[in-house]
Order: sequence, then C-alpha cells, then structure tokens
Amino acid sequence: MTTLEQTSTVRTARRAAILNPGHGDIFTDHMFSMLWSPADGWHQPEFGPLQNLSMHPGMIGLHYGQVAFEGLKAHRRVDGSMVVFRPHEHARRFQTSTRRLAMPELPTDIFVNAVDQLIAADHELLSDDPAHSIYLRPIMFATDESLMLRPSENYRFLLMAFVAGGFFGDRVDSVSVLISRDYCRAIPGGTGGVKVAGNYAPSFVALQQAQAAGCQQVVWLDAVERRWVEEMGGMNLFFVRSTGTGTEVVTPELTGSLLPGVTRNALLSIAERAGYRAREERISVEQWREECAEGIITEVFACGTAAVVTPVSSVRDPAGGGDWTVGDGQPGPVTMTLRRALVDLHHGLVPDTDGWLHPVPTER
Ligand code: COI
Repeated sequence: MTTLEQTSTVRTARRAAILNPGHGDIFTDHMFSMLWSPADGWHQPEFGPLQNLSMHPGMIGLHYGQVAFEGLKAHRRVDGSMVVFRPHEHARRFQTSTRRLAMPELPTDIFVNAVDQLIAADHELLSDDPAHSIYLRPIMFATDESLMLRPSENYRFLLMAFVAGGFFGDRVDSVSVLISRDYCRAIPGGTGGVKVAGNYAPSFVALQQAQAAGCQQVVWLDAVERRWVEEMGGMNLFFVRSTGTGTEVVTPELTGSLLPGVTRNALLSIAERAGYRAREERISVEQWREECAEGIITEVFACGTAAVVTPVSSVRDPAGGGDWTVGDGQPGPVTMTLRRALVDLHHGLVPDTDGWLHPVPTER
C-alpha cells in the first residue's frame, strides 16, 4: 500500500468510527493545557493537537490520586449551531472537587473559554445524528515529582473531548442492576460528593460482580446503615411514584456522599415543569422493593451527563428477598417524557427558558 492509500484508509476508518462512536474511544483532534504553580498561579495556556504527555514516573497525581475531573457535553442544535450544557455549573463543581483534594481552583472563565476553543476547533467531527454529542473531559492533576505523602505544589489542567454515542448504546434500552452488598461507593466525610478519580476505580470490582450476576450496573447503598439508595454506577437515580394525588418524581437527597449531578438538578426542574411533583427524599432498598410490588413505584431511571436518562428495568439483591422488576420492565412514560424534554432542549427544539445552553460560535 502506498502512503497515500494508507492515509485514505485511516481517514475512511475514522469517518466510520465517528458515525458509530460508542462512548469514550473516538477522541477529537485538539486539547487545551494550562499549568499552576505557587509563584505564577495559572499560566502557560496552550491549545494544540491532542497528544501524549511526557511525565515523571514519580508524579504525585499518579501515585496518590490527587486528580479531579468533570464531564459535560456539547450538542448540535437543529439549526446547526453548537451549544454546551451548563458549562458554568460544571466549572463550579470542578472548583468544589479540586478544593476537596487540596488543589487550586480553576477560574470559571478559563474553564469556559477552553471549552469554547475546543468546540470551535473540533465541532465538525460531530455528525447531525441527534443520538451523538461531544463529551468534554476537563481534568486536573498533581504534577510534583515526589513520592512524599503531601499535596503537590504544581498542577496541570487539561481539556480533551470525544465524540459520544449513548453510554448504553444509541437506543434507549433499560438496564438491570445489582444492589452492591459487598462494597460501598462513598462514606460520610469522604469524597462521594465530588468528582475525583479515586471514586471510580474502586467501583470496577462491584461492576464486575454485577456483570457476573447477569446485571449491567451496580446500585450503591449508604455506607452506615447499608439500606439507603444512593447512586447507580456513576449516575444519579430517580424513582417515579404514582400516588392517588398524581405522579411524584423522587431522587435521593444529597447527603454529602452523593454527587450533585448537573443533569439531576436539571431534571428536578424539568419534572416540575412537566406537571410532576419533584422531590428529594431518602429511599431505602426495602421501600424500593415493596413499593414496586404494590405498584406505587412504577418507573426508575438513572441520569447523568453520560447516561442522559436511562430506564432501570430490574433489580437483583444478593441480600435475599429475591429479584424484582420495575413496572413492566420496559421504559416507562414518565421516564421517556423527561428524557425527551431534556434531549429536545439540547437540540434546540424547545425554548431554553433557564439559560442552560451556552452557545459556542462556530463556522460551518
Ligand atoms: C458522566 O456522567 O459524565 C460521568 O462522569 C460518569 C462516568 C461516565 C465517569
């Protein structure tokens, strides 16, 4: 094969991958980088091609997990323009996360400008398929070359992105869940309420356990009483209750060990506007089982930047009491109404009354 033929084969393969991107593998072309030091604060902003990093093997972030990140999405509206969903909220949560790890705060305007720059440069990679988006991944990590157990003095902020299909595929399929009885995601006083890398690696063994039990995801219970439902995998949960007086949409309240999801927050408002009663309340796993059996809880769904709104069909609890199905095991009408409302908002099909969509000027 000639070099020209090889280049054209690579281009064709990339185009095919972009049309069927999966989740997390099809990186866009550019990245933003900035450094922090005690003497200079945030300095040396650089925007350029996505490329490998060169780092010292004894970097603090690598060994002690002084690493925080975010996840937010850019969408193409039906008129062709690009918008980012609530970047200022994500910038604020990133500040909360980095503070928790004794890291410096990245100013909101630097965060949002980096997002704008990356989307302006790479938006052409996003097709018009409404199931696809660009997922932006800001990350900050400790760069001191030291194995002393102390906070780093120097940090690096990076922003990269990938073309995203659905986290669970491009169709809205329900997921089955295993209640994790062996592991906890977060403890009071821990880091469950912020988005730090150390929250995720310990969840993998529970995910493997769920998969071995024939389930797709894991549901976390609180660490103290081991009965209050907290999250599903890396996503927030909602329960739909049909009561005599109407439909209630309930999500576990933020106790400090749950991540305050930006999508969770948006759905509380969207649900109210759609005519449901939206509330934050603790729900126990026994309640979940009993209220499903009684036909009170009729639907359950997970939500997040990656998951958008994903129905939960069935639950397996190794602690006994048997498995149960949520409603008829199919995506329910309230779940699908809320999902549609959110997706329509992303794509500019309904007015953005809350100012959640941040437009990014792009040329096309
Ligand atoms: C998200 O929903 O964006 C998350 O960060 C969860 C996971 C994909 C890391």
